[in-house]
Amino acid sequence: MSEDVLKLKHITKQFGRRKAVDDLTLSVRAGEIFGFLGPNGAGKTTTIKMVMGFLFEDTGHIEIGGFDLRHQYEKAMAQVGGIVENPEMYGQFSGRQNLEMYARLHGLKDRHRIDEVVRLVGMDKRINEKVKRYSLGMKQRVGLAQALVHRPRLLILDEPTNGLDPDGIHQLRDLLKNLAHKEGVAVMVSSHQLAEMQMMCDRVGIINQGRLLDVRPVGQAAAGEAGGEAGLRLYRIELLPPEAARGQTVPDAQEALAALPEGWRGLVHAVSGQALEAELDPQQLQELLGLLLEAGIPLSQVLHSSRSLEDLYFSVTGGGQSLA
Ligand SMILES: Nc1ncnc2c1ncn2[C@@H]1O[C@H](COP(=O)(O)OP(=O)(O)OP(=O)(O)O)[C@@H](O)[C@H]1O
Ligand SMILES: [Mg+2]
Repeated sequence: MSEDVLKLKHITKQFGRRKAVDDLTLSVRAGEIFGFLGPNGAGKTTTIKMVMGFLFEDTGHIEIGGFDLRHQYEKAMAQVGGIVENPEMYGQFSGRQNLEMYARLHGLKDRHRIDEVVRLVGMDKRINEKVKRYSLGMKQRVGLAQALVHRPRLLILDEPTNGLDPDGIHQLRDLLKNLAHKEGVAVMVSSHQLAEMQMMCDRVGIINQGRLLDVRPVGQAAAGEAGGEAGLRLYRIELLPPEAARGQTVPDAQEALAALPEGWRGLVHAVSGQALEAELDPQQLQELLGLLLEAGIPLSQVLHSSRSLEDLYFSVTGGGQSLA
């Protein structure tokens, strides 16, 4: 069993009368990607801000790499890298200058490390341009590079795919998997995107109204738990309905099918204008979701006949319609 790099014990945070985080206990292990999944206002950012030392918890304890965040603040903070909302950067300086300033601020002298993280996030070609000329996704990438400069044991990212294009999301997924599975970093990512969490994470915790409702393995980890014999299941993949797409053009199920490689077309069927069905094993489901996302097909949810992560998410969060 891997070591718990992040431990949250009975954390509570209240703003006025509203409990943003309510008695939250969870751990993130070395070598895993932990997904923090919940609707708007669930308490994800508040939790992450407490771990990053930007907010004080009202009650409870936070331990990072074995150090107590309150009593051994500097040692604990030295183990964390992260991005909360917008990474802080100086627009009039280049991406590289920003990274150099950040590294200096943290007493890091290894110049090679900067080149290394720039390459890791795929910004080598544009790193010498001023940050104010970057797109949102490029800023995210530099933010991620910054979070990694000091080789943290815990990487914590709030909605990291915000602003990334499908290619960027794919790269981020590979990068995070690499960091976790090869280098043993404990990675925690928040999101309200189900399909994305399923493809990216090893375990997912569902949070709603400040409470952690369930933690379960997903993807490979889930298949592994089932003794590696996770059989075929009938999945229903619903595409984003046009009214939810804020003016984007939304492909229908037939167009989504046409976007898939030849071999997939016999396996997947359009069951309505906005839904696909297929009998797949979990590995194939991940591949299919990856293909759809890469083709820019916006998904709203994935369902299957037994109590899946999606069913669970919608039953515990009330379909995400529960802003308190
Ligand atoms: N500084 C603050 N003052 C008052 N209320 C706050 C503050 N920060 C957050 N909240 C409230 O705490 C609750 C949790 O907010 P939080 O930002 O943690 O949610 P979230 O899960 O990150 O949501 P989203 O998916 O929309 O980013 C919300 O009801 C929010 O309005
Ligand atoms: Mg948030």
